[in-house]
Order: sequence, then structure tokens, then C-alpha cells
Amino acid sequence: MTGEFLSVSDLQVSYGDMTVLRDVDLSVPEGGVVSVVGANGAGKTTLMKTIAGVKAPDSGSITFRGESAVGLAPHELIQQGLTYVPERHTVFPEMTVLENLQTAMVPVTDSSPDVLERVFDLFPILDERRQQDAGTMSGGQQQMLAIAQGLVVEPDLILLDEPTLGLAPKIVEDVRDTILEISDEGVTVLLVDEKIQLSKEVADELYLMRKSTLQYLGERGKFEAEYERILQETIN
Ligand SMILES: Nc1ncnc2c1ncn2[C@@H]1O[C@H](COP(=O)(O)OP(=O)(O)OP(=O)(O)O)[C@@H](O)[C@H]1O
Ligand SMILES: [Mg+2]
Repeated sequence: MTGEFLSVSDLQVSYGDMTVLRDVDLSVPEGGVVSVVGANGAGKTTLMKTIAGVKAPDSGSITFRGESAVGLAPHELIQQGLTYVPERHTVFPEMTVLENLQTAMVPVTDSSPDVLERVFDLFPILDERRQQDAGTMSGGQQQMLAIAQGLVVEPDLILLDEPTLGLAPKIVEDVRDTILEISDEGVTVLLVDEKIQLSKEVADELYLMRKSTLQYLGERGKFEAEYERILQETIN
């Protein structure tokens, strides 16, 4: 099944009388990594929140596996296999790594018995620190925990909103590797980032968000050139 895995069409979203997304169309096929890049304030987080059921759209449609996702609460979308790791996600600092993961699993009633062990296999650093309070870990480790919280619900689609924000280059590499591993395990990834760097390495397809509109730049191998061309156009 491709094409109709996640489909957004004609989406409009506003805060009060300020419209921040207009005519947005986005298609995420099953099994790949799709990335949306765009400058500060372009509307990337608003798009993610709307897909995840946190923010209601004014109009337009969002379908997940052919069923409308508009009007569903985040926990209902989690049960359907769509999970969202917010920007600057803050884990519960006073809880241990394990407690943070167990808390994230609450919306799901039919978890596989080995889900925690599978997630710990993916994040050895968290495995070693199961009993450590999350607030005492580094920013990079907390970001890994945030992604792990998204994974313990065994999603089919994970939305990652700027997962490398504020992280050192070495840790950005770890996040990149993690995204590739998640994708290898069969989880579809929708990534949002301010810069193209990470997307160049992980994304199969790229979209550019600017002035509240979303533009499709194409598939890997093509989108880099198109992005550079648009950058030049914007500078000139
Ligand atoms: N809760 C809110 N109430 C009012 N306006 C908001 C709210 N959240 C975002 N906005 C505005 O909507 C626009 C898009 O913001 P959004 O956070 O979606 O952009 P972004 O691309 O994620 O930016 P960033 O790179 O800063 O994360 C901005 O003009 C922002 O000021
Ligand atoms: Mg944002």
C-alpha cells in the first residue's frame, strides 16, 4: 500500500484570524522517510500538530490509511498507529527513563510484551540508564528518550518535529542513525527540520514550507538541486 498511507489535502489552519497554513497538500507513502524543511515560523510545527490531532484545521482533509484523521484526539491517533514527538519535547525530568517509557505506553492497551526490550535494543544508552532520572541526562540523551517514547506505542507512522534542535553535531549523527534504524524497522517517518542537512541524509522525498504554503521538491537525488535553486532565487 503506497500513496494513501498519510494524505493531507487542501489544508488550512489558523490561530484566531491569522491563517498560518494555506492549500497544503502532502503525501507520505508507507515505509519511507518524508521531510519538510522551512524557515523559522513557516508553519512546520503547526502542520505536525494538525496531523497529530493537537490542533484543529479550519478546512481540508487528513487521511491516515484511507480513514479521516480530522477530529480524532492524539491518543486515538496513537491507537491507530500515528505518534508525534513534539519539538523541544521535554521528558518528565523527575521520572526515570523506564517510568517515562511506561507513561508513554498508557494510551495503548495491546502492546507486545517485548516492546520495551526492542526499544532498549535500539537505544543502548537508554538501556544502561533505565533507572536514571531523565532530568539528569544530557540534551541528546533526553531527545533519544523522547523518540523512544514515540516508539513504545509501536507506531506505523512517527512524526518527528526538529529532533536535532540544539544538539551538538556528534549527537545529530546519532539521531540521524536512529531515524534510519527506525525506518529500517518498517516505521514510516515524517520529519520536520529547519535545515536541509539532516534531510539530505535520511529523506526519500522533500517538501519546502515557506509563507504558509508547502511545495513538493521531489525525490532524493532531485530535491537537493531544486532546493539549491530555490535558495539562490530567494537570495537574488
Ligand atoms: N499557539 C499559537 N498562537 C498563535 N500563533 C501561533 C501559535 N503557534 C504558532 N503561531 C504562529 O504561527 C506561525 C507558524 O508557527 P510554527 O510554530 O508552526 O512554525 P515553525 O515552522 O514550526 O517554526 P519554528 O522553526 O520556530 O519551529 C508563526 O507565525 C507563529 O508565530
Ligand atoms: Mg516548529
